[in-house]
Amino acid sequence: MSLPVLLPLLADGEFRSGQQLADALGVSRTAVWKQLNKFAEETGVEIESVRGRGYRITGGLDLLDSEAVTDALDSSAQTLLRELIIAPTIDSTNAELMRRAQSGASGGLVCVAEQQSAGRGRRGRTWVSPFAGNLYLSILWDFDSGAAALEGLSLAVGVAVSRALGEACDVEPALKWPNDIQHAGKKLGGILLEMSGDADGRCQVVVGIGLNVAMPKGAAREIDQAWTDLRTLVPDCPPRSALLAALLNELLPLLEGFEAGGFAPWRDAWQSLDAYAGQRVVLDTGAAQMAGIARGVDDRGALQLETTTGVQSVYGGEISLRGAT
Ligand code: BTN
Repeated sequence: MSLPVLLPLLADGEFRSGQQLADALGVSRTAVWKQLNKFAEETGVEIESVRGRGYRITGGLDLLDSEAVTDALDSSAQTLLRELIIAPTIDSTNAELMRRAQSGASGGLVCVAEQQSAGRGRRGRTWVSPFAGNLYLSILWDFDSGAAALEGLSLAVGVAVSRALGEACDVEPALKWPNDIQHAGKKLGGILLEMSGDADGRCQVVVGIGLNVAMPKGAAREIDQAWTDLRTLVPDCPPRSALLAALLNELLPLLEGFEAGGFAPWRDAWQSLDAYAGQRVVLDTGAAQMAGIARGVDDRGALQLETTTGVQSVYGGEISLRGAT
């Protein structure tokens, strides 16, 4: 799908007559009507059509704007960003960068989308990705020393995302091991890392981040867990382009330095954001459940679970954590 050229004309939420839109594009009013109908059908965005007044998108649309993003990058992020792809719609920004990695793309490539048709979550879940509501962001990065050097990376990404949200909209999220970004126990975002290449040598990682910014009510019905979004927490939250720049300002330098420093320098920051520190929890590995008290993480990002038989280190993967009842 390509974005209808007239979408920016409607993004402010004001009425525009069919004739105004047709004149702006040099097409017929029927062509305008067809384009808008098709767009509404494909995205679920509601376009109001009122006789005598024209069309409007109730509440307007906060569209991503590549110039606004790059203008708001600080100098180090500007140097590290090789290319910013903004897709109107895509299956998954992670899948797109994995494909590009297979075809020889190198790190520093960033892909965001207004909408994902097959957004990937952890544990094979779908990531609900409605049009222009939230942020769907992936970054491709090159590493030289294989998977071992990446231990704890997804946790450090959580810290970087929390810092960006603090910076951009004064929100202080908590982190739920290993990869959830939460606020008051509700999911605000998630992180999904995917790797390609040599697990013992040169490899590429796609860091995928989904952040709930302004979840439309219709899409929210598809989510099967407690969630929140930035608009609820901060009604005057900045536009998505500014949020995206704030994220890249934190994430690109993190990726640049991670291989040399590892997770250890991020550990204290992660623990200060730990949503479950000192709480009784149950770890679900899919095959088994382990009960204990969450005692933070070690220098490799492994959860320290205090059980009746001592403290056990639990490494990433498909483990979920929840408050014990
Ligand atoms: C989770 O399940 O908590 C992780 C969700 C990660 C979603 C993001 S959205 C951008 C990127 N593209 C994807 O398909 N998934 C990640």
